[in-house]
Amino acid sequence: MDETLLRRLQSLEPLMWINPELGPVAAAQVPVRPDQVVQAEANWRALAPLLQHCFADLEPSGGVIASELAEAAELAAALGLGAGRYFVKGDHALPVAGSVKARGGVYEVFLHGLSLARELGLVAPDAAPEALASEAVRARFGSYTVAVGSTGNLGLSVGIAARALGFRAVVHMSADAKPWKVERLRRHGVEVVQHQADYGTAVASARQQAEADPAIYFVDDERSELLFFGYSAAAAELRDQLAEKDIPVDAVHPLFLYLPCGIGGAPGGVAYGLKQVFGDHAHCFFVEPAQSPCALVQLASGLEQVVNVYDAGLTNKTEADGMAVAEVSQFVAQVMQPLLSGVYTVADDDLFRWLALAQDHAGLQLEPSAAACLGGPQMLLSTAEGQGYLAQHGLEGCMGQGTHVMWATGGSLVPEAEYQGFLQKGRALLA
Ligand SMILES: Cc1ncc(COP(=O)(O)O)c(C=O)c1O
Repeated sequence: MDETLLRRLQSLEPLMWINPELGPVAAAQVPVRPDQVVQAEANWRALAPLLQHCFADLEPSGGVIASELAEAAELAAALGLGAGRYFVKGDHALPVAGSVKARGGVYEVFLHGLSLARELGLVAPDAAPEALASEAVRARFGSYTVAVGSTGNLGLSVGIAARALGFRAVVHMSADAKPWKVERLRRHGVEVVQHQADYGTAVASARQQAEADPAIYFVDDERSELLFFGYSAAAAELRDQLAEKDIPVDAVHPLFLYLPCGIGGAPGGVAYGLKQVFGDHAHCFFVEPAQSPCALVQLASGLEQVVNVYDAGLTNKTEADGMAVAEVSQFVAQVMQPLLSGVYTVADDDLFRWLALAQDHAGLQLEPSAAACLGGPQMLLSTAEGQGYLAQHGLEGCMGQGTHVMWATGGSLVPEAEYQGFLQKGRALLA
């Protein structure tokens, strides 16, 4: 990595990095295919009746796991943002798991349940997914385990989904995991293994245990294509929501997306889907904590060798527990290298400030990781790097017609006392 960039990262000052490898979508050579996004959308539709049966909070939507797209003009003004339209994509309030992780974890666990039931002959090979909603299937699933490594939210999503189908569920958590997430999992009947180590170590240990036992299915956050494509279907949802609001996306109406990044699966899957739907008019930026910019250090170093945030002299210590990841998924790094516009970093104190602004100016309950999305437009519009990006893509003249979507990835399930603590901290920092 460039020495100047390394020194800037080590100074912990928030910065924006523009990806020099970004190219046209049509020319991108990546290890996944656009038809996999289309297949994921079809799979979600097929799963909807079963999901509706399994989760009371999916009753109103007919089994569809989707979030609102809310215009946030007052919040944008409070953030000091100028021309353009600003929206929050409300995955913080997604049903089932209260975070973007519902899109990946529920998808993978339910597809696994379906293929296991077929393999065991519990349902006919061509049976519809609803066939899983039987006591006989649940009873058999009780001798199979679904395991996952997680900083918290993926564990919630996978654990809740696995228990809903009758599986035994084991979540391996890193030392950063918040106690309330551990408690909530245990209330859902999920077994929690707490590691005194970072996220990568928790995942490696869970993977090793699963490899030794054929009755354990391991949801591999670092490598799973199923998770990735579960997230990718969010792009079609956003396309329909923008169309409903008559918001065009084209060469003179650019769309900017700000996506919080941990291991990279959620923002990578969503961004890959968005690039298929909107092509080069979607400009996707990841956001990472200043102490955990794992995608940034990997992409800025090239993909020849694995680089983590410790190699860059950083600690991986942050209040944004969902993003406390030292090493990005190599699979996601490969996919994003030609598709990602850039990455910006955030200071923890700003996360709390934005969390408070989101509550006070838009009534949104976000967790610190999710609040990171709110810093994106300012970084794009006010840093030299952001302005350079706009100039390079000929976009300076059309920013008044631009749309910014800040992807709020989690928060509605944070317990009241914990959330009030975040809010007070944010308001005190703002005062
Ligand atoms: C609230 C929140 N935002 C963002 C992320 C990042 O997702 P990923 O680790 O797939 O990059 C997470 C991950 O757990 C999260 O919990």
